[in-house]
Amino acid sequence: MSSYFKCNDVSKTYPKGQMALRGVTFEIPASGIFSLIGRNGAGKTTLVRILATELMPSSGDVFIDGVDIIKDPDSIRKRIAIIPQEARAISWLTPMQTVTTFLLYRGMKYAEAKARSREVLKELGLTSVADKLNRTLSGGQKRKVLVAALVASDADILFMDEPTTGLDPISRAELWDILSELKKNKFIFLTTHYLEEAERLSDRIGILDQGEIKAIGTMSDLRAMVPKKYSISLIDRDHGSVEIENNGSLMKIGSRIFVDDNEAYVIARDLINKNFRFSINPVSLEDIYYSIARKEIGGEEGVQD
Ligand SMILES: Nc1ncnc2c1ncn2[C@@H]1O[C@H](COP(=O)(O)OP(=O)(O)O)[C@@H](O)[C@H]1O
Ligand SMILES: [Mg+2]
Repeated sequence: MSSYFKCNDVSKTYPKGQMALRGVTFEIPASGIFSLIGRNGAGKTTLVRILATELMPSSGDVFIDGVDIIKDPDSIRKRIAIIPQEARAISWLTPMQTVTTFLLYRGMKYAEAKARSREVLKELGLTSVADKLNRTLSGGQKRKVLVAALVASDADILFMDEPTTGLDPISRAELWDILSELKKNKFIFLTTHYLEEAERLSDRIGILDQGEIKAIGTMSDLRAMVPKKYSISLIDRDHGSVEIENNGSLMKIGSRIFVDDNEAYVIARDLINKNFRFSINPVSLEDIYYSIARKEIGGEEGVQD
């Protein structure tokens, strides 16, 4: 039987705080990579902590493979590991000590924990720094040490709250490779506000806005929610702008226009005739996100700056 996550009308109001989650309801298969996206304050961390059994919701139910994890968190905890948003590798420990300690804490025997830590640090390319103090490592290496602890654990449901925030592009790309490999036998639930990262990496994506799930599914499920399926961009630097044939609006260099199949055909032909260079792409997650959060794509107002 394949694993799944089911959230039923989950709400959370912090004591003296505002409502962080409002009736979050969804069901997703617990396989591959799921990315929860949303701006700061959307409620991502709150939702992750509830799913990881660290925080009680004010109301609602969560089931993982039929287990009610609010009523019976202990029966699922062995399968769950989390890197909280604020997690940092302890500066005066080494990567080896960090990973081993995590495994011991989860109940692994010492000899096995040590062997497993060495093995995983090697897999993640950290052997040369395994016995140096964490504080001497680069930002990317420190983050990888935290990921190594999850990889080494026996948990098969891994939560990572903004694992790539603040990393340089190369470290991010390295982490993506690690996660892509890891998802083959573990379920990864991550949050990010890098939309191109979510699009590239994830099997499924959820959009959280002001405590509500606005959309959830595969990229093609999300694309199906917006009326216009393609974006056309002008990439011609020799011209400033062009008048679009079908609606008379002015399209500037660098701006995008959202179109359906027919419009794409008409406009592309027009741009070719006028000798403009352009690109046509399926709408990106970023386009969809802004459309759903701010209602910009679709309808009659196709042209955007
Ligand atoms: N411990 C807390 N006490 C009170 N309010 C909180 C607490 N944690 C988060 N909040 C509030 O809940 C909302 C959602 O926060 P959070 O889940 O951290 O969002 P995100 O991770 O998407 O940035 C915000 O308005 C935030 O200020
Ligand atoms: Mg957060």
